Amino acid sequence: MTKTRKTTVCIIGSGPAGLLLSQLLANEGIDSIVLDRQNRDHIEGRIRAGVLESGSVDALIDAGVGARLQKEGLPHSGFDLAFDGDRHRIDLLGLTGKQVTVYGQTEITRDLFEKRFEEGGQFYFEVEDVVPTDLDTNQPSVRFTHCGETIDIQCDFVAGCDGFRGVSRHAIPGDTLNTFERVYPFGWLGVLTECPPVSHELIYANHERGFALCSMRSETRSRYYLQTAATDTVEEWSDERFWQELKTRIGPESAADLIEGPSFEKSIAPLRSFVAEPMRYGRLFLAGDAAHIVPPTGAKGLNLAIADVQILSRALIEKIKRGNDQYIETYSATCLGRVWKVERFSWHMSMLLHQFPEHSGFEKKMQRAEFDYIATSEAASKAIAENYVGLPLD
Ligand code: APR
Ligand code: PHB
Repeated sequence: MTKTRKTTVCIIGSGPAGLLLSQLLANEGIDSIVLDRQNRDHIEGRIRAGVLESGSVDALIDAGVGARLQKEGLPHSGFDLAFDGDRHRIDLLGLTGKQVTVYGQTEITRDLFEKRFEEGGQFYFEVEDVVPTDLDTNQPSVRFTHCGETIDIQCDFVAGCDGFRGVSRHAIPGDTLNTFERVYPFGWLGVLTECPPVSHELIYANHERGFALCSMRSETRSRYYLQTAATDTVEEWSDERFWQELKTRIGPESAADLIEGPSFEKSIAPLRSFVAEPMRYGRLFLAGDAAHIVPPTGAKGLNLAIADVQILSRALIEKIKRGNDQYIETYSATCLGRVWKVERFSWHMSMLLHQFPEHSGFEKKMQRAEFDYIATSEAASKAIAENYVGLPLD
């Protein structure tokens, strides 16, 4: 027995992309149904990135979910690049007139869920066997099982916001979809600890033993990362080993200010660059990690997802409310134009700041020369700064 439901937009995935899209559509009186294979607690419990471009902050405020962000978010006007103990501050505000805001993705997801539930948003959690169908017609549908029942959602549009391991991207025929990928030969070990951060701004460090990043979630909660071998497991990294390695990589001056404490979240994530083209197939539109992945070195994953959703919501609202196809037709090209520039920046920061097993002495010298160039050229520092605060939307 199949139960049929109707909506205007069926959104697969209830992460930042799916939640923000649902909210932006609701703000324009457009109904949607959001599906996720996990439940709300699991989604809210994911520890992810924490740096928002100024455009992302504006988008969340305009969506009506920025109150806590404005109250608790930490404005940052710069960050440090460190190379074997030498430091250079990228003066974001001085070079671009813009800042970034430190505010965890976990908090954004919570703010979005709260607003969606307040407004009666329609969700199905813990769904299975999600299959988008008839995407190349004007009457697509999404079939799935939920609590043992088969449900078929008939809709006008399908938004694939189901992340890198979702099903939406795979609904695009193989002779239409092109993918591009680079997997990096290392991972990032991330730690959360209830200790004041070592510095009031972020520190991205390239040390001969590997990359380290000092970040934060608040003035009492720190977030640290270490480059690890791709095969490393969390079990191999005790807190003691982690703190010792972090102090070595950030150098004695910063290490002297480091306040250590027990980790309450510890995980290792792989790094990859990935893009799927096109981001549209008929009535299916991909947004966020479903379409692209960036290494976290540029702090861009969440910001790219928000940018895609701003472009997609404009396209759907124009089509649904005013019958205007213009933005629907240009959606994929508009997103990809920006996605590739952000992929380049994230790849560039990763190549600059990590130790690569295959690198000879020459490549290591090239990394150091690039750091010295950035540290002594306002133009080079500005290039880093304008990418970090966020490129124009389109
Ligand atoms: N059916 C339904 N839901 C699915 C399926 C599926 N087959 N596969 C995945 N999902 C859900 C996941 O459970 C997740 O909640 O889709 C959601 C995708 O969310 P994200 O992976 O967070 O992707 P996105 O919303 O694009 O946000 C990108 O999140 O993961 C970070 O680093 C990433 O910061 C970036 C941001
Ligand atoms: C984080 O705080 O989690 C963070 C910050 C900057 C990055 C990546 C992660 O580039």
